[in-house]
Amino acid sequence: MRFMNKNLFKVLIFTTLALFINNCDNDSKNNKQQKEENKMSITKELFGKADGKDVFLYTLENKNGLIAKITNYGAIVTSLIVPDKNGKFDDIVLGFDSLQDYLDGHPYFGAIVGRYGNRIAKGRFTLDGVEYTLATNNEKNHLHGGIKGFDKAVWDAEEFESNDGVGLKLSYISPDGEEGYPGNLSVKVAYTLTNSNELKIDYEAETDKATPVNITHHGYFNLAGAGKKDVLDHKLQIDADKYTVVDETLIPTGELRNVENTPMDFKTPHLIGERIEQVPGGYDHNYVINNNGKMVKAIEVYEPESGRIMEVLTTEPGVQFYSGNFLDGTNIGKGGKVYYKHYGFCFETQHFPDSPNQPDFPTTILKPGEKYGYTTIYRFLTK
Ligand code: BGC
Repeated sequence: MRFMNKNLFKVLIFTTLALFINNCDNDSKNNKQQKEENKMSITKELFGKADGKDVFLYTLENKNGLIAKITNYGAIVTSLIVPDKNGKFDDIVLGFDSLQDYLDGHPYFGAIVGRYGNRIAKGRFTLDGVEYTLATNNEKNHLHGGIKGFDKAVWDAEEFESNDGVGLKLSYISPDGEEGYPGNLSVKVAYTLTNSNELKIDYEAETDKATPVNITHHGYFNLAGAGKKDVLDHKLQIDADKYTVVDETLIPTGELRNVENTPMDFKTPHLIGERIEQVPGGYDHNYVINNNGKMVKAIEVYEPESGRIMEVLTTEPGVQFYSGNFLDGTNIGKGGKVYYKHYGFCFETQHFPDSPNQPDFPTTILKPGEKYGYTTIYRFLTK
């Protein structure tokens, strides 16, 4: 009996072990198969109409299941769905469910802004001896391209797939005189959702008359998930020694000031909320990136609860860090979520504000025959 029991025990152990090994093998085969089947994709649906033109919503999915939804109205990224440290996916950008909500007006959620992102003092500048007057839409100043900037244009769109990922190429011709700017400007913005979990943005433009150009992406991010809470407990690091000092209307005085020993210093990681009370109005400043025109990691931001990390890499000399100071609960976003003060932050890679009136800032003037272009990458990781 004892002998029988011992043998039976052995048989049981072997069978269990064999079943377990077989199961593991099947699991890994299933995972492999699933990975192979999990191909990137892009789909297109009608989103509505603007300016009498059809507006579409494109859904891009990469090999790892990350999703970006982009509309050709304003070249807006309406959703960006990325995993947390446990593999749970969440939408981490502020935006709306319907085109109508965007048409009703909003603070540039997820849009491409231009022809000149950020402010131009009093909407005026002089170029080759001619004074130009732009539309003013921010008190006395010109902001983000004026009354009808690129964020309100209906762009042409073309889907593409590459080894790198899946993308959407948007193009727009901004006519001579639009919002007061000189020259026909042909603009191309390509969004790629890469298989390395990045949203890569390539900007290009050409003109037929000299004109200022400063195009950027105005995504509002919240790594905890859009509409869940404010962003004050995100940990932020910015590779910048200096920022452009501004007056009370947020126009640069021309001074580049050292961040050291001030609440502006993010050279080492700090919570966004740690010193925000010491910054009148909150963060809304252009940081001077230590990059010399090279592609560098300018920013890293980490949300401890979800474990999500976003890195921002750019070739641009500046980044506007805006801590969502003017969000006030009037915007009802996706799924009925309310966006209160500090519920999102923006990192707008750019040339410095008001450069057309600041001879010491890097130039933003594009001339005929020249090519404007740069790349910014928003990269998503977890820890
Ligand atoms: C500006 C803010 C502005 C916000 C929304 C940011 O880029 O710096 O001052 O309120 O955009 O318009």
